[in-house]
Amino acid sequence: MNNTYGRLASHVYNLDKYIGKTFGDIDYYRERLLGCRGPILEPAVGNGRALIPLLEAGFDVSGFDASQDMLDYCRAHCTDRGLAPALSRQTFETFTYAQRFNAIVVPAGSLQLIADHGVASAVLTRFFDQLAPGGRLIFDLYPGDMVADLQPNIRSWQTETGDLLTLTSQRVKTDVIGQTTVSHLRYELWQEGRLASSELEFFTMRWWGVQEMMLTLRAVGFADIVVSGDYAFGRVPQDRDHVATFECRRPE
Ligand SMILES: C[S@@+](CC[C@H](N)C(=O)[O-])C[C@H]1O[C@@H](n2cnc3c(N)ncnc32)[C@H](O)[C@@H]1O
Repeated sequence: MNNTYGRLASHVYNLDKYIGKTFGDIDYYRERLLGCRGPILEPAVGNGRALIPLLEAGFDVSGFDASQDMLDYCRAHCTDRGLAPALSRQTFETFTYAQRFNAIVVPAGSLQLIADHGVASAVLTRFFDQLAPGGRLIFDLYPGDMVADLQPNIRSWQTETGDLLTLTSQRVKTDVIGQTTVSHLRYELWQEGRLASSELEFFTMRWWGVQEMMLTLRAVGFADIVVSGDYAFGRVPQDRDHVATFECRRPE
């Protein structure tokens, strides 16, 4: 039940964060990857929101995700567009590939879904090992949501068939020492005013300090670390920036 992105959660993600929807990230990643001719990996690829624009820009991108429902959306969107990237069901913690990648990209703050610092460090080491020498890791962290509004929040979407999907989220735990928050995400599907199905997810996130992440990346062995605020490459993140993007390199 923890960060599982089940059937209703994936449906909501696909409606809300449809293919190509950008938080400023898609143009940014596309630009940062210009000139990258080799294979690229997007761990936690989700429904393909970012993957598909990158494939359509001509990049050779593979992806994996822990959620079968998310992968099903991703495969269907790719097939609709005549795209056939390598997609597999794997996790951050155990993924493996025979090939090395020229870049690994993790947009949308997905790394924050790894709650434990030790596990996250091991995942970053796995990224390092899976990169070709000189290859780059680029990912986003969203620092602000740790102190976001703690009130329950309800959102709704109309489905493709005219039903209603609702999401009620409520923060239930904030661990300021462990730097984690847990929210209950209650997804409900309503058909003609009746509850047809529901799903509860525990949504756990880890909140990183910018310097803490830099130290962690250095300890893993990454070099040439650049941190950027709100997708302005090389501009040091400032208070009130929405997103910090890290770019670093496995040394040659
Ligand atoms: C915020 S979505 C990001 C999707 C996509 N990368 C994007 O930019 O829109 C987070 C994704 O992480 C996946 N995920 C969560 N925990 C995971 C894990 N331990 N290993 C692999 N994927 C995981 C979820 O299934 C979900 O698809």
